[in-house]
This record gives sequence, structure tokens and C-alpha cells, in this order.
Amino acid sequence: MTTNKDIKTDPFSDTSNQRIIIKRCNLDDLDGVIKVNEEELPEDYPYFFYKSILDNYPESFLLAQNDQGKIVGYIMWRVEKSPSLDSLRYINNGHLVSIAVSQDYRKRGIAKSLLTHSMQATKKYKIHEYVLEVRVSNYNAIKLYERFKFQIVNIKKNYYRDGENAYYMTLKTKKRLD
Ligand SMILES: CC(C)(COP(=O)(O)OP(=O)(O)OC[C@H]1O[C@@H](n2cnc3c(N)ncnc32)[C@H](O)[C@@H]1OP(=O)(O)O)[C@@H](O)C(=O)NCCC(=O)NCCS
Repeated sequence: MTTNKDIKTDPFSDTSNQRIIIKRCNLDDLDGVIKVNEEELPEDYPYFFYKSILDNYPESFLLAQNDQGKIVGYIMWRVEKSPSLDSLRYINNGHLVSIAVSQDYRKRGIAKSLLTHSMQATKKYKIHEYVLEVRVSNYNAIKLYERFKFQIVNIKKNYYRDGENAYYMTLKTKKRLD
């Protein structure tokens, strides 16, 4: 069971004066997270997939909750090892698995807050690079990632089940985040 003791909940008021809380996801929150995913993204995952991300990387699995406790956004990452350039050791990459914010809560800074807090929370993994895939047509998400200085480095052809290509975007940490 995960706890929220390690993340500052950082409540903020959005433009409609609703208090939004960013906090760590718990097992009990998974149904709410899955609901947001199913409403906002064509990529669905089975329950055990969310559970395994929560079990393995609980620090960076965050959600946004409104005044009434409704989950209106989430973000989850996994950490992958890859050989360093000199191949003498392995380095950690932070791979963005998924982020979504409910339609009615968009353009209020929730995604920015989820990204900021979750990337901060991956510190303990000594991340060398953050990586992600995004649909080439997903203008809003691409703008979001560019705001965080992610850069498009590649196109992954037919990456999505419906055949759409993905941009592969990366953000090198200048200094290892430790
Ligand atoms: C992409 C998404 C997560 C952004 O969530 P959000 O809470 O609305 O984003 P924020 O309000 O924090 O905006 C952050 C930045 O994203 C960019 N952005 C977000 N929505 C935008 C829009 N409609 N038009 C242009 N830029 C946009 C902007 O750069 C914005 O910063 P700014 O307002 O200071 O200019 C949201 O649109 C979403 O859930 N989309 C569906 C799911 C999805 O596509 N996920 C990404 C899969 S790779």
C-alpha cells in the first residue's frame, strides 16, 4: 500500500477557484484513474498494468483531485535501464507511461503540476533522460512537453494500434537529478 507522506500535496486554486490537490495514487484510487484514462485516451490498459506501475514506481504515480475528491487527472512513469554511451554501466531513463486530464479541467495548469511533481519524485532513481511517445496529431500534448523542454528526436512509424505515428521526445537532464 502506498502512502502520501513523501509528496507535498501542493493544493492550488485553478481558474474556476476549485481547489485541486496533487497527490500520490493509492490502490483505492486506481478505478478513478482508469476512468479518466478511458474517457480521455484511446490507449487503455488492463487493471494489472496500472497495479504493476503503482507497485514498482509509486513515487511518480500521481493524481489530481478536485474539492469533492473526484480524480480529474493522473500521470504515471516507469524507469528503464539502458547501457550508457561507454557501455560500462547502466543508466536510468524515466519513461512517461501516460498522462491525462479530464476535459472540464484542462488548461488550468493541472498537467504542468503533475509533470513537475512527478519528475521531481523520480529523483531517487537518478534519471539521466526522460523519454516519451506522443501522437504526431496531439498538438496540446506536444506543446505541453515542449514547454518542459522535451525535444522531438525521432518518429516511430505505426506506433499506435490505429497506425498513427508517434514522435519520440526526450529531455536530457543536464545534471543527473540526484
Ligand atoms: C495534454 C493534456 C494532458 C494537457 O493537460 P492540461 O491540464 O490541459 O495542461 P496545462 O493546463 O497544464 O497546460 C500546460 C501546457 O500545455 C500546453 N497546452 C495544453 N493545452 C493546450 C491547448 N489546448 N493549446 C495549446 N497548448 C496547450 C501549453 O503549453 C500549456 O502551457 P501554457 O498554458 O502555459 O501555455 C490534456 O490536454 C489531455 O489530457 N489530453 C488528452 C490526453 C493526452 O493526450 N495525453 C497525452 C498523451 S501523450
